[in-house]
Amino acid sequence: MCGIIGYTGKKLNAKNTVIAGLKNLEYRGYDSSGIAVNEDGNINLYKAHGKISNLENSLNGRDVLSSTAIAHTRWATHGEPNETNAHPHKCGSITLVHNGIIENYVELKNELLKNGVTFKSETDTEVACAYINYIYITEKNKIKCLAKACSIFRGSYAFAIIFDDEKDTIYATRKDSPLIVGLSDEGNFAASDVSAILDFTNKYILLEHGEFAKITKDDVKIFDGSENILEKEVKTATWSATEYKKNGYDHFMLKEINEQPDVIEKIFSRYLENPNYNEIDFSKFDAIHIVACGSAMHAGMVGKYLFQNYANIPVTVDIASEYRYSTQSITTSTLVIIISQSGETADSLAALRLAKDKGATTLGIVNAVGSTIAREADICIYTYAGPEIAVATTKGYTSQVAILSTLVINAMKQNSMLSNDLLNEIKNDFNNISSILKDIIKNKDIYVNAAKKIYEKNDLFFIGRGIDYAVCMEGSLKLKEISYMHSEAYAAGELKHGTISLIENGTPVIAVATNDDLYEKTISNIKETKARGAYSIFITTSNFDSSSFEDFSDISVILPKTTEFCQAIVVSCFLQLLAYEVAKLRNCDIDKPKNLAKSVTVE
Ligand code: G6P
Repeated sequence: MCGIIGYTGKKLNAKNTVIAGLKNLEYRGYDSSGIAVNEDGNINLYKAHGKISNLENSLNGRDVLSSTAIAHTRWATHGEPNETNAHPHKCGSITLVHNGIIENYVELKNELLKNGVTFKSETDTEVACAYINYIYITEKNKIKCLAKACSIFRGSYAFAIIFDDEKDTIYATRKDSPLIVGLSDEGNFAASDVSAILDFTNKYILLEHGEFAKITKDDVKIFDGSENILEKEVKTATWSATEYKKNGYDHFMLKEINEQPDVIEKIFSRYLENPNYNEIDFSKFDAIHIVACGSAMHAGMVGKYLFQNYANIPVTVDIASEYRYSTQSITTSTLVIIISQSGETADSLAALRLAKDKGATTLGIVNAVGSTIAREADICIYTYAGPEIAVATTKGYTSQVAILSTLVINAMKQNSMLSNDLLNEIKNDFNNISSILKDIIKNKDIYVNAAKKIYEKNDLFFIGRGIDYAVCMEGSLKLKEISYMHSEAYAAGELKHGTISLIENGTPVIAVATNDDLYEKTISNIKETKARGAYSIFITTSNFDSSSFEDFSDISVILPKTTEFCQAIVVSCFLQLLAYEVAKLRNCDIDKPKNLAKSVTVE
């Protein structure tokens, strides 16, 4: 949610450097962007509405050599996306970019208004900027000034700041929004994450809450709020710059779908018999709470199904933004599993902290190595899916499902509920998963034809039972987030309790039926929708008798049958491709859908 990069150095052109870095942060928001540059001793601001390419175009031809710059790509919270609200903001001698929300900005703004300060934008960020400037009038020690301001700010923030009287130095600090300091021989950086700096360096320092960075061209110092120098570990990024490129694919989403065979296969071989899992003793826990947002929450729904149906362990799944304010019982005997691709989602992080406060054991399933949730969870299991750039998650989601499958298998072993026969079937699936997924991707005609039948519709429904319902939730979200088609997922038996009134002639209903025991029930539900005119796309597995499919489906898609430890991944891969093709036919901006951001670091 909003991306920040700052650079100061002599060897590179600061303007070009931060624009290059900013492009790798665009997944964090892209409704406007801006840059503040030290050009020949003046701090000049340039801003543009919309994507970073607009900013870049507006800067074309301005080849003034610059030594220091801070830049920002925005996902609007306070104030609509326009140039006035875009960052950087400048108030008096302070210029800054901000990620997060200053929750007490109204109170601070009123205080400043009484003191004669005026404002141009509607943002909380301009208030933060003006407030730092206000403190700086009397507190000339910059670290102490920032520490004082931060002690007054409520909410979350990552700031990169330039003071007018020290134009080649960047100050940075953070609370509950990520910020790193990048180190290189060509100069130094402040950035929301390593993706922004990987073209220049892979060395970085993680800034923690309460720490203040002073970044100059050949030196970086990290202070606490009393100006004591802190010794910080210099880390090396595990992801490389090439992983952030499309590598020949039309979209990052398609690239990431294509990476799944490899990512999932690696997870299964890494974790199926991982000795580290022994530290998770499931018998210690009375309850498992799975907590996450968006697609990660849908992965949690698959996990809940598997835990309950195979390991006989009761599980609840909660949306993190609800869980964090709930009064439900979290005890020292609860295992709280937080699932997060980015490891930075504000609500998921708050849920983790709540669980820790209550003494629960916390387990993070995280992709971004070294992210806050990964660091703060008692146990962290990495998905190692590599960077995911497309805003709509694909490999991030299926890798979370894969980890949950291996956790459930481990719980079954501990409960003595895993028969040798089932283990052998699972191992067989795990050996074949890569080729199964590759075949699904290769059979393009199937999903392209299905997409052609539905892309002009306005509303669509997904139905399924059991694990298929969980998969439908994710399939529906994928479709709506990238194609802007209205779509809802229902437990197949629930549709008739109201929503079936929306089915009319030609309304597409995508039904997923992969479970042997629930198959016939779902078929009955499909027939109920067909009887009301639905256009039915039936997704099932190869073990069922296909001779009857025509009775209730307009299109049928037959996917390989696997155990349920893989089935959700198999069906989801197909649904991702279907959503991708629909979005393409509707000419949507697939990697950057409107109004969304990938890393949601505000509540
Ligand atoms: C955003 C993304 C979703 C993601 C959710 C949770 O809404 O667009 O794709 O599932 O955040 O993100 P996380 O990083 O915590 O998995």
